[in-house]
Amino acid sequence: MARIAVFASGSGSNFEALFEEFKNDQNHNIVLLICDRKNAYVLERARKKVVKFELVNYVKNSKKDVENHILNILNENKIDIIFPAGFMRVLSEEFIEKAPAPLINIHPSILPKFKGVEAIKRAYESTDDKTGISIHYVNKEVDGGELILQKEIIIDRNKGLDFLEKEIHQLEHKWYPKVAKDLCDKLETS
Ligand code: GRF
Repeated sequence: MARIAVFASGSGSNFEALFEEFKNDQNHNIVLLICDRKNAYVLERARKKVVKFELVNYVKNSKKDVENHILNILNENKIDIIFPAGFMRVLSEEFIEKAPAPLINIHPSILPKFKGVEAIKRAYESTDDKTGISIHYVNKEVDGGELILQKEIIIDRNKGLDFLEKEIHQLEHKWYPKVAKDLCDKLETS
């Protein structure tokens, strides 16, 4: 059985997609959400789904203190695997080394293209024909860890940026849960 933690800062649509994947799973459970923004809609989702959450405060506390606090919570909750699904804080190298579980991120571009924020918009405003999503392990380089899966779509500029964003999110919601399930199953057997 894998005990799963999700880290999120915003709307939490990927948190919800992961929740749907695991809600009836006999083996794996989302047991914890870590969030750094008190007004994030993901907290509403967690309340509705009755997923335990921890709100961390990077404004009042140093990054080191917050990360130590998160490490303690991960250990207390015996977390086996972590999905930072739209967590808008860069985790330190020390945190990644000490984390008791692998971290698997989702990014809305075909990495190494468009690392960092506003990746969908930057792809849309580029001359590229295609963009997509990347699911990868987290390492000390932002959006630079080992790739697990990428999916591409054609950029149709006649349909606008909103349409592209919708398409990207649909791809994320389809593939992130599948990869998550697969990795959790593999943890069982490793
Ligand atoms: C997603 O596009 C994800 O790829 C990126 O942040 C966004 C989070 O969206 N890392 P949501 O909060 O899951 O709706």
